Amino acid sequence: MTKSQDLAGLLSDAAGAAFAALGLEAQLGAMRRSDRPDLADFQCNGAMAAAKKLGKNPREIASAVVEALKASPLVASGDVAGPGFINVRLSAEGLNKRAEEIAADARAGAWRVETPRRVVMDFGGWNVAKEMHIGHLRSTVIGDSLQRLFRFMGDAVTSDVHLGDWGLQMGQLINEVKLEQPGLPYFDAGFAGPYPDVSPVTMDDLGRLYPLASGKSKTDEARRDEDRKATQELQSGRPGYRALWRHFCNVTRVGLERECASLGVKFDLWKGESDAEPFIPEIVEDLKARSISEFDAGAWIVRVARETDKKEVPPIILVNRDGAIGYHGSDLGTIVDRKRSIDPQLTLYVVDQRQALHFEQVFRASDRAGYLPEKALEHLGFGTVNGPDGKPFKTREGGILKLHEFIGQADATAMARMQEAELGADVSEAERADIAHKVAVAAIKFSDLSNVRTTNYIFDLERFISFEGKTGPYLLYAAVRVKSLARRAEAEGVKPGPISVELDAERALVLALDGFNDALRGAYEKRMPHILCDHAYTLGQAFSGFYAAAPILVESDPVKKASRLALALATLKQLEIVLGLIGIDIPERM
Ligand code: ARG
Repeated sequence: MTKSQDLAGLLSDAAGAAFAALGLEAQLGAMRRSDRPDLADFQCNGAMAAAKKLGKNPREIASAVVEALKASPLVASGDVAGPGFINVRLSAEGLNKRAEEIAADARAGAWRVETPRRVVMDFGGWNVAKEMHIGHLRSTVIGDSLQRLFRFMGDAVTSDVHLGDWGLQMGQLINEVKLEQPGLPYFDAGFAGPYPDVSPVTMDDLGRLYPLASGKSKTDEARRDEDRKATQELQSGRPGYRALWRHFCNVTRVGLERECASLGVKFDLWKGESDAEPFIPEIVEDLKARSISEFDAGAWIVRVARETDKKEVPPIILVNRDGAIGYHGSDLGTIVDRKRSIDPQLTLYVVDQRQALHFEQVFRASDRAGYLPEKALEHLGFGTVNGPDGKPFKTREGGILKLHEFIGQADATAMARMQEAELGADVSEAERADIAHKVAVAAIKFSDLSNVRTTNYIFDLERFISFEGKTGPYLLYAAVRVKSLARRAEAEGVKPGPISVELDAERALVLALDGFNDALRGAYEKRMPHILCDHAYTLGQAFSGFYAAAPILVESDPVKKASRLALALATLKQLEIVLGLIGIDIPERM
């Protein structure tokens, strides 16, 4: 990371220098926002740790540091509280200078990484033939927020949807279509082609056939053998099966692209598990030659257990006893593909927490094979989305809610809420629908992302599509209000001017703006988008406090008016950036 120029960083440097002057470690000077904003803006607890080391009185050390800090133009006052807490109040000068920097910077004061990395993000992970449902929403929303964040920080990100297009399910489907439409040329081994361009199945057909086929495969052993055989034949290139499978993929992709467009999510690569296939034979050869892979009960496996393991970590299966490639093999093959085409320094897999063991196995195998090191591969797990009953989200009829229908419901609810709040009343019907959709997407994404990634959460459409409370629509509305304020100011010829904070609410707003770096660092290093959501909310609230206490357009003093407008514009810029990182698009008006 580039060195922080935020207030916490500057103060920590100053306090660090004071600790160093006492012969202590500079790190003891770390300053953070005070827990007691009524008493101080920033605090430092380093004197207690220092005192323990030196066997000295902590209050004495703290006093010496406070005296040194008072010499900084950033600091208005400082004192020692309790056993040796260092409390600091910032000077108006320090706040003004920082606010000016944020106002002048296109990145609203955000830092960026010093050494950008090549990062692959594997998320989405939908399965061919399976209708996209709410269960796959989290990976998509979290992954998209992280790809936006990592790019914003300066990394070179390649996102890959990594479609599930290659497993046993494909063989199951081929056989199910064969049962329904046995006369199709895809099943005729003697057919010379060309195969029809039009798919024999629609997405609705696939959505119906998929559960049917997997149900049969589970209960009927003979059928399962057939399915495994079809999968193996597909993988080894039987032309009719490949042609039919391509239809499955294309039909599915049309639906997925529609959903992605509706959610505003983009992928750089639309690759899938099947793209790993060409790499498998050489991986098997390579790992065999180096005695990393072994032949066990008819399958090629790689052992990954370690002596230090507290749980059982089974081997990965590269090629199973039918000669087919399963989930392990496709993930290892994909690692080799990515190493050659991208050479990523970091790969992030945004996938359900329940797949933790799978990734642990694959990462270990990659490490053992010397492909990509384990420490450059991270599984970012997440919890499930539950309904109000605490069970995985279902439709009222008990089925799994299709994402398409879910978004439709959210759009309708958003429209109803806007009507209640008398929003969007004076725009065209088309624009109102567009605004309602933006409100719905803001609600869906914010409600998901504002939860700590690793926890389960309860999805409650009514609560999340509200213009009040910590919600996406509340923040969207806040941003729209600042936008319209900026437009009015422009129409009235009011120009932003030098920032000079006076009121407590103004100071609080600058401190909130200054917190952006901290939020970015936390979200980036922990890969936790909820930290961005928290920041957006803090900023939105600080702005409403400011706007209530410091009216802008009706202010008679032109200097104050210009200063406040500059603060409002800086807030708007930062709010737009942070909502953008969450994946929320702000309409012009509401
Ligand atoms: N298609 C998988 C599933 O639905 C998720 C894929 C995740 N990515 C990966 N590289 N394994 O469970």
